[in-house]
Formats: sequence, structure tokens, C-alpha cells
Amino acid sequence: MVFVVALAFADAAGAQDWPWSDSSLPPVQRAQMALDQMTEQEKLSLVYGVIAAPWGGKPKPSGSIGSAGYVAGVPRLGIPALQETDAELGVSNPGDVRPGDTATAMPSDLALASTWDPEIARLQGQSVAIEARAKGFNVLLGGAANLIRDPRGGRNFEYFSEDPLLTGAMAGSMIEGVQSRHIISTIKHFALNAQETDRVVLNARIDPAATRESDLLAFEIAIERGRPGAVMCAYNQLNGSYCCENDWLLNQVLKTDWRYPFFVMSDWGAVHSTVRSAMAGLDQESGEQLDTQNFFEGPMARAIAEGELPEARLDDMARRILTSIFAHGLADKASASEPVDFAGADRTALAIAREGTVLLKNQGLLPLSADTRKIVVIGAHANLGAPSGGGSSQVMPRGGIAAKEQLGKNRAMIFDPGSPLEAIRLQFPRARVDYDDGSVAPRAAKAAADSDAVILFVDQWMTETADAPNLSLPGEQDRLVEAVTQANPRTAVVLETGGPVLMPWLAQTAAVLAAWYPGQKGGEAIAEILSGAANPSGRLPVTFPISEGQLPHPKIQGDPDGAPIGPVGRGGHYGAMFTGVYDEGAAVGYKWFVERAEPPLFPFGFGLSYTRFALSNLAVDVSGRTVTASATVRNLGDRTGAATPQFYVSGPKSANIRLRLVGWDRVELKPGEDRQVIVSIDSRLFARFDEDARKWRIQPGVYRLTAGFDSQQQELAASFELQSASLPP
Ligand code: GLC
Repeated sequence: MVFVVALAFADAAGAQDWPWSDSSLPPVQRAQMALDQMTEQEKLSLVYGVIAAPWGGKPKPSGSIGSAGYVAGVPRLGIPALQETDAELGVSNPGDVRPGDTATAMPSDLALASTWDPEIARLQGQSVAIEARAKGFNVLLGGAANLIRDPRGGRNFEYFSEDPLLTGAMAGSMIEGVQSRHIISTIKHFALNAQETDRVVLNARIDPAATRESDLLAFEIAIERGRPGAVMCAYNQLNGSYCCENDWLLNQVLKTDWRYPFFVMSDWGAVHSTVRSAMAGLDQESGEQLDTQNFFEGPMARAIAEGELPEARLDDMARRILTSIFAHGLADKASASEPVDFAGADRTALAIAREGTVLLKNQGLLPLSADTRKIVVIGAHANLGAPSGGGSSQVMPRGGIAAKEQLGKNRAMIFDPGSPLEAIRLQFPRARVDYDDGSVAPRAAKAAADSDAVILFVDQWMTETADAPNLSLPGEQDRLVEAVTQANPRTAVVLETGGPVLMPWLAQTAAVLAAWYPGQKGGEAIAEILSGAANPSGRLPVTFPISEGQLPHPKIQGDPDGAPIGPVGRGGHYGAMFTGVYDEGAAVGYKWFVERAEPPLFPFGFGLSYTRFALSNLAVDVSGRTVTASATVRNLGDRTGAATPQFYVSGPKSANIRLRLVGWDRVELKPGEDRQVIVSIDSRLFARFDEDARKWRIQPGVYRLTAGFDSQQQELAASFELQSASLPP
């Protein structure tokens, strides 16, 4: 993969005209010029960072804004400090370290991925980056590209999809949007951080070639498209070696095969050595208070002095960091922050929630008629707001949190403002719209029986550091849904969850919407879809199983009921390692269901609309190594809607490619309108990875391309022939 370092275009000199301030020079040249002036101590100051908050009795580091991370710069040479903030779903404010500071709470990445619209992902990245810069941040710890390997994964709401192409496209576009505002985006968590429980003592065991075709392909595509200025290595071990000291992962795959020119930072508390991790490709220790000791300051100086670590490696670490700083405009005057357009941020948040809500079932209920006289809204604090996920991505939303449900010690479900109930009342001005909190099922059922229609909200709190023990709705919510739908089948269930859930009551409810964590404009979006003001267009980025027995791991690996073992800090120790065996390999999500011929509850790519679409004229064009697919999509209904025709490929027996998403487009069509969609297909998607040769290999033979509106419903098929070929990694 060829990597051309993007030049930071900005006007001439920075604050002071050091030779390296000339932004017309290539970033790597500017980096070398600055590096040549640095003392060893100044180089060391670049390669480790701290949590920028009061810690161990000390105040937050002077010069830091207050956030997850701070890396001192080199003021003597005009090298800025790195002010690092989590901002996957909006700019976070951990522990209210910046008292009262709030930010726009965007919908979850699952909602963003459900749009299948990379452009809106770019807008989200851009919008969040503008808010981050306005607060003084220049590194955004966001651009999560882990595959959703296990639907019970605690951070699935921060991830995009089970498919590497969809994940890579969406994460890459988000990263591109972030970096368009002269801020470094950090793709994370590299790699196989597929579950949260005991993530720091998880040894993820998986076939290397399968890793290349799944989790690593998502990162590779996202890095190609977004060019993130930093990569964050993950907590877990990969095949017996911690990711942050994994030579195969960092030096061979990322820096050699993919020719990545910027730097690798650790996750917070994910460093376990000085020489081993530096030599394996780690360039910066993050949040060093969470490590059992500092590894990259004093111990690194000693290792160099004692000849254990070549000074040249420290130079390479510092050079990579400086190259990223210069390439993304952090040291250039021109990239001063810009005013925040909060109305624009709200428009982006609303568009994501609107386009990311997936209509899963609709038996003649939605959109609700404007003449509906009596509606009852039930459950999930829908009178106040919408749930969000826990952990480092948590945003303190503008306007303040709407509700907080304590779930245990340091575990509270935070609700973003934007009351669905109030939004529904606005959409149905002629209706009486009541609310019941759903805490007493018989009372809720009575309210349902007395209404013309029921909007029943259910939620599932997910968080960093803990996986869901199962896929059932938490608490008594399944019984609540059963009681309410028994009392009135004209019920629309709105899922506000952190991933797929089981629905034992599905047959007895008229409609189901997957709204995920919809952010602080989510209430509005849900109400618009219920009334038909917006036509739902979301498509599932993850498979919804009928039962956990269908999954590669019917019980999630590790001990979700055990006390989570997190980064331990000084003097702590990590518990016993456990091995998570990912023997499904690259068969993640729908690929597993297809391989096992298992029918899902709702398939990857699925989503209904208030109109209907048809697909025709599938054609495949093979010229040399370029394969292009096209088809015509038509709106057969009586209202405008957006369709997402999807293209999949399966290969000859020799290739053993059962089904892979190879392209899609999202098109908005008026009634009767049709449009041809054309996708050019990344050749790697026809290939298997040969780890020994470190090459992609395309087997010769007849390949089958299908087109449809989800991974199961493939209406059209065409065959084409490919010659044998090898591609660079
Ligand atoms: C966390 C997360 C990572 C986050 C970092 C800083 O433990 O794994 O996503 O960016 O620490 O908060």
C-alpha cells in the first residue's frame, strides 16, 4: 500500500520563523530539521504522555487543558504540546476535569454506520473536530475501527460494523473529516480488541491470515482513506504478544507492509516494557500513570545509555511524531481554531440519527396517521432524553444530561437531552400523548390498552470495560414489551441499545425501530420517522441473531460476571491472562451465518422504508484487474426514499470465499425515479491472504456477483471470470 504523506497547506512561517516552520516543505523534512536541534531529553519528552487531570495528589500538568492525555511539546523549538481528547461521539470531559464543559453528543457509531453514508461520517468528524479545536485540543483519540466481532461487546456502540469494508469506509471518512480541521485523528484500537471484559488480560488467538482478511483489512482501508496521524495499539495480546509490543502487528504489518509514516501511541495503561515495546514499533507511551511504571522516560534514557536501545530508535520515534505534527498543521499558525457552528453540529447530529435509524418491522402501523387521537409513550426515560454508552467516549451533552440511572458503583447510564416525548407531541399536535415510565408493567399495559397507538422505548446500557452477559434486554423489559403488546398490538418498539438484542416478543408487535444511542437530536429524529416526516433509510451494520447459540461463541469468552480487570497503575498487577480463541477467523457476522447456513433474525444490510425499491440490470465489467459492478435501482412507491443497493461476491471453491460485501451506494429517489449505481471493487476483496508470502492471492476461476438490499436478499446475480493474481499487502 503506497502512502503519500499529505502536505499541510498553510501560509508561510509559524509563530516564529524556525526553518522547519516553512509549511511548504515536506513534513518529514521539517521533522528532521527540528529533530536535528533536539536534545535527548527533548526527544524523550515527545515519546510519553500523561493523563491531564489531577493524579496521585498532583495537580493536572501545567499547560494542559484537562483531558485524557497530554504530551509536553518543545517550546524552545516551537513544537506544540499534544492536547489529547476522546471524541469518538463528541468531545468528552472525563470526570468533569473541565468543570461544566459540554459538547454536542453525537449518535453512536452504530447509528452512523447504519447510514451507510461515508459523507455523513466525514461531516461528523469535521463537526466534532471543530468543537475539539475550539477547546484547544489538537489530537482526537477517535476513529475506532475494530470489527464488531461479538454482538455483546461492551464498546460496540463506539464501533461501526461486522464487515471490514463498511467499517473501513466509515472510519476512514470520519478520520478524514477530523483531520480536515488540522487536528490529528487516532485510529484505534489496533487490533482485535473485540471484547471489553478483562481486555487487559485477554490474549486474542486468531490465524494471522484471517486477521488480515478481517480486522486488519478494516484498519488498512480506514488508514488508506483517512490517513490518520496516529494509531493507538490495543490493550490485549494478539497471539501471545501484547499489541503494544507486537513486532508483527506494528513493525511488519503497519510500518513495513502498509508503510505507515506517522506514529503509534499506546492505549492508556497498555505498555509493559521499554526496550521490547520500542523495538516492536511503539512510538509513544500514553497515560503513563496507568502503567505499572513509566517506561518511556527514565528507563528509556537508561536503556540508551546502556546500549540496550539504539538512539536511532528514539530518533525514529520522535521523527514520526514530529512528521504527524507537521503533516496535520499542528505547528502552523494558519490552522488556528475556527468558531463553532452549534446549529450546524445539531444538523449533523439530527441527520445521523434520522438516516441511522433502522426500521426492522412494520405491519401497517408506521407512519402513524396524523389523525391518531391517543398515543402513549412508555419507558426508557423517553420523557426526558435518550441513553448513551459508558466509558471514555462519554460526552457531557450541551444543555446538560437529561437523566442519570445509577446502575452500580461508578456505573451510571447517562441520558442525552432531547425528549422523544416532547418531539412526538410536536409531530402529533392533534393527539393526546401521555407518558408512562414502564416501571409497572400492568399499569403500562392499561395505558396501552386505552390508546390508539403505543410507542414503547426499551434500552440497554453498554460500556467500555464490560461486555453484556447476554443479548436479552436488561431488567424486566422483555416482560414489559410482552404485557404492552398483548394489551395493544398497535405498538412500535423503539430499541435504544448498544448493539443487537433478542426479541422474543417480535411476533406480537406491529413495528420495531432500531435507533441505537441516537444522540442529543435523536428524540427529534425518532419522532419524525414515527410521523412520516422522515422516511427511514437505515440499514443494519451488524447481524441480529435469533439466539446466542447461533454465534461463534454462544457464551462470550472470558468472565463477564467477574470483576473487570483494568489498567492497574503504579504498583498494580494484571490478573491471569485468558485466551480468547477466535477460530471463526474472518467469518465475522453475516459471513459466519452464511457459512453455517443459519437464518438470522435480521440480516446485515437489512432495513425497511415507507416506500419500495426494485433492482435491475446488474452488470459486471472486468478490464484487467479492475472489476466494476452496476445496477439500476428504482423507487416503486409513492414517496421519496433512500435505497442502499449492496453488492456481494462469492468465489470458486479454490478461493473459499462464501460471501463478502464488495460495494454499495446510498441513493435518494423520488417516486418513479430510477438511478444507475456503479461501484468499482477493491481487488483485495476477491483475494485470500498468504501470510508466508505476505501477499494477497486471487485464485483463478468463476466468481459470482450478487446485488440486493441486504446480505440475504440478493435479487440479481452475474458471473465473471478472474485470472490468478498476487497483490501487495
Ligand atoms: C481508554 C480507551 C481508549 C481511550 C483512552 C483515553 O482506556 O481504551 O479508547 O482513547 O483510554 O481515554
